[in-house]
Order: sequence, then structure tokens, then C-alpha cells
Amino acid sequence: MGRKGYLGVMDGNNDAVLKHDGGKEASEYRYGNAQCDACHTRHSFKKSEAADPRACSNCHMGFDHPQWEMYTSSKHGIIWSIEGKDSTRAPTCQTCHMHGGDHEVRTAWGFLGLRIPTKENVLALIKVAPAQKDNLTKLAAALPSGHYDGLDDDPQWTYDRALILQAAGVLDGNFQPTERFVESVVQAQVARGPEEFNKERAKMNKACNECHSIGFVEDHMKSSDDIIKRADHVYAKAIAAVQALYKDGILKKPEGWKYAPDLLQYYDAKTSIEQELYLIMLEHRQRAFQGAFHASNDYMHWYGWAPLNTAVNEILEEAQKLRAEHKLAKKK
Ligand code: HEC
Ligand code: HEC
Ligand code: HEC
Ligand code: HEC
Repeated sequence: MGRKGYLGVMDGNNDAVLKHDGGKEASEYRYGNAQCDACHTRHSFKKSEAADPRACSNCHMGFDHPQWEMYTSSKHGIIWSIEGKDSTRAPTCQTCHMHGGDHEVRTAWGFLGLRIPTKENVLALIKVAPAQKDNLTKLAAALPSGHYDGLDDDPQWTYDRALILQAAGVLDGNFQPTERFVESVVQAQVARGPEEFNKERAKMNKACNECHSIGFVEDHMKSSDDIIKRADHVYAKAIAAVQALYKDGILKKPEGWKYAPDLLQYYDAKTSIEQELYLIMLEHRQRAFQGAFHASNDYMHWYGWAPLNTAVNEILEEAQKLRAEHKLAKKK
């Protein structure tokens, strides 16, 4: 990605990138996340160039964010490529993400498909996990109040997401916010609260509504949201299995790590089981939900959902093996 990918954000290096000049570049030259010359090239600054979906393709492609591949393999992108740039039938990236020239360029879920649980979500969770009552009450006090439009907020999903946030080092073992919570959620806004989520979702629905009925659009959003929910549920099982290996002393926290498992160690993860865990987060889960939103069924299913399930099975099997080996080694 560009200079300010979420790698920087999640590493906590984001501040350095944005403040190297006292915040001048960020405040004067950036809309949303990208610099002007990300889409407008420096020497021409032609509007037609910035408005072409190919202008987004050098960054929004590949491993963890193949929106270009998804778009071009969706019905939208196919019509665009058949009819050409003057097509009025086919939406481009800009039709949906920069409607009416809006330079904010933000989405409801954000890049990682994470959102902040609300106070109400966490209080409901106490009924499911009463043993955690004190911790969860403390956490609830730190969270915004409200409701995410169009999403059911069942406690199981809140719990699954809490495990993902733990694996990202954003919540600690007792569900308390860590300093990464402040860096990535509060400062870098990697995850969104209900107010912003609802605003961005309504904006997007309106853009789709120019060509589709609102019922059709809401159905599409609902089924795409459901992909995140289902992916989170399967993924959380794998996270719990790896967490238990640490808890039972079968895996040892590597030196210098503050959290373990830690998804933000990326490919520096020390064991193959944790490599799998990171690949699910950055590759399979991303493709499943991004493919769903971008109406690319093949990406959603075969590049996302299917390998996600395979990887989770492998993690569960590997965890059992590691346990058995550990037991055997102790007996000797
Ligand atoms: C994410 C891509 C993107 C980024 C980043 C971006 N722009 Fe744009 N810009 C566009 C698109 C697309 C249009 C055409 C919008 C429309 O009218 O539909 C546009 C239109 C414009 C126009 C109107 C041009 C005209 O001829 O009417 C101006 C001025 C402009 N941008 C300035 C900027 C500046 C200044 C920045 C940096 C602060 C910037 N843009 C960053 C994509 C981008
Ligand atoms: C030079 C690379 C680059 C180009 C070109 C670029 N982007 Fe981005 N875009 C980024 C980066 C980096 C982010 C921030 C990722 C993150 O959220 O951490 C981003 C974020 C976004 C987001 C926000 C996701 C969220 O967090 O809500 C959208 C939507 C988006 N870009 C759309 C576009 C569109 C549409 C174009 C073309 C008109 C475009 N981008 C061109 C690099 C680029
Ligand atoms: C038909 C409308 C549409 C088109 C065309 C479209 N997107 Fe999206 N995009 C969406 C929707 C809907 C979401 C999810 C919004 C949410 O979070 O609720 C999304 C999400 C995103 C995100 C955030 C991460 C993700 O994938 O969920 C990025 C970045 C992005 N789009 C970039 C692009 C780029 C680049 C293109 C063109 C190659 C593009 N989009 C084409 C509708 C569109
Ligand atoms: C500029 C018009 C336009 C906009 C805006 C638009 N679409 Fe479409 N969409 C189309 C066209 C045209 C088709 C092809 C319909 C057909 O079969 O004739 C289509 C097809 C679809 C399909 C069916 C894809 C398939 O594989 O069968 C889905 C789902 C969809 N759009 C969702 C969305 C969503 C969600 C948004 C907003 C995020 C959106 N569209 C925005 C024009 C648009």
C-alpha cells in the first residue's frame, strides 16, 4: 500500500508518518487516507484520470485488499470494461466511494472489517459470560453508546470479535483496552463506532440506490455483513485454540513480545500455527468480506470463505498435535 498503509497504523508508526512535518501534509494535502497525487497525477491533475477506476488499481490490489480484482470480476466492472469509461450503466470505484466528488473516501466497516463494540453490546455479553462481569462492566464504561444500523448485535458476535481484538493486542486477556486500543482505534480510527458507521452506511446505500431499489441494496449489505459475522465465528475458534496453548504453557511467549498470540507480528510469527492465524486475518477473512461487498462471488467464496475454513481446521488439528507432543515430552 501507500505510505500510510495500516501496517504503519497498527505498528504505532502512524504518528511519525503524519507528524514528520508537524502535521502540515496531513492537514493541507490529504483527503481521508490518501495524498492528492495518489489519484491525480502530479503533472496533469486531470479529473478524467482521477475518475477512472484504474487510478485506484496500483494500491487496491493484491494480497490483503484485492478490490481491483474483485471489481473487475464483478458484474459492475465487467460492464465498465465492455462499455468503456463513458458508460452510465456501470458504477466505478468512484461512483460508490466518491459519490458526487466527495473526497472523504471512507467506509462503514473500514479496511479490516472491525468495529468497536458499543456499551450495550458489552452489557449484553455479560449475560453470556457472567464470570467476566467485572471486567466487562469496566470495558462497557469506556465504550460509546448506540446501535449499528442494519446489524443484529448478538452477544456471540460481540464475543467472537472480542477474541479477534485480543489477538490483535487491542484488548488484553481481561478484555481491558490496551495502549494499542488508543493508537489504532481512537487515534487511527481503524475500527469505527456506531455514529460514523451509520453515517457511512447511509451514504453508500444512497449511492447504490441511484441504480438499485433500496430493498435490493439493504439485502446485499445484510448478506455481506453476515459474511463478516460468520467469518468471525469460525475464526474465533482458531484464536481460542492458540490462546489456550499459551495459557497451558505449550507455546511460550517469544522474547520482546508484549502480546501472544499477536496478529500484528504478521509474517514474523514464530510458529506455523500462528502464521496460519495471521493469514486468516489478512488474507482469507479480508477476501471473504471484501468480495461480498464488491459483488465478486468467487472471491468471497473460493478465495475467502473456503480457505478460511480449511485454515481453521488445520489450526485446530495442529493445536491437538502440539498438546499431545507436550504431554508425551512431560512423561519422559
Ligand atoms: C482517492 C482518489 C483521490 C484523491 C486522494 C484526491 N482526489 Fe481529487 N478527485 C478525485 C476524483 C475521482 C475526482 C472527480 C470527482 C467528480 O467530479 O466526480 C476529483 C476531483 C477533484 C477536483 C475537481 C477537478 C475538476 O476539474 O473539477 C479537485 C480540484 C480535486 N479533486 C482536488 C484534490 C486535492 C487537492 C486532493 C488532495 C488534497 C485530491 N483531490 C485528492 C479523486 C481523488
Ligand atoms: C497510492 C495508493 C492509493 C491509491 C492510488 C488509492 N488509495 Fe485508497 N487507500 C490507500 C491507503 C493507504 C488507504 C488507507 C488504508 C487504511 O485504512 O489504513 C486507503 C483507503 C481507502 C478507503 C477507505 C477504507 C476505510 O478505511 O474505510 C477507500 C474506500 C479507498 N481507499 C478507495 C480508493 C479509491 C476509490 C481510489 C481511486 C479513486 C483509491 N482509494 C486510490 C491507498 C490508495
Ligand atoms: C458498487 C459499488 C462499489 C464499487 C464499484 C466499488 N466499491 Fe469498494 N466498497 C463498496 C462497499 C459497499 C464496501 C463496504 C462498505 C462498508 O463497509 O459498509 C466497499 C469497501 C471498500 C473498501 C474497504 C475494505 C473493503 O473492501 O471492504 C475499499 C478500500 C474499497 N471498497 C475500494 C474500492 C476500489 C479501489 C474499487 C474499484 C476498484 C471499489 N472499491 C469499487 C462498494 C463499491
Ligand atoms: C451506476 C449504476 C449502479 C450503481 C451505482 C450500483 N450498481 Fe449494482 N449493478 C448495476 C448494473 C447495471 C448491474 C447489472 C444488472 C443487470 O443484470 O442488468 C448491477 C448488478 C449488481 C449486483 C448483481 C451482481 C451479480 O453478480 O448478479 C449486485 C449485488 C449489485 N449490483 C449491488 C450493488 C451495490 C451494493 C451497489 C452500491 C454499493 C451498487 N450495486 C451500485 C448498476 C449499478
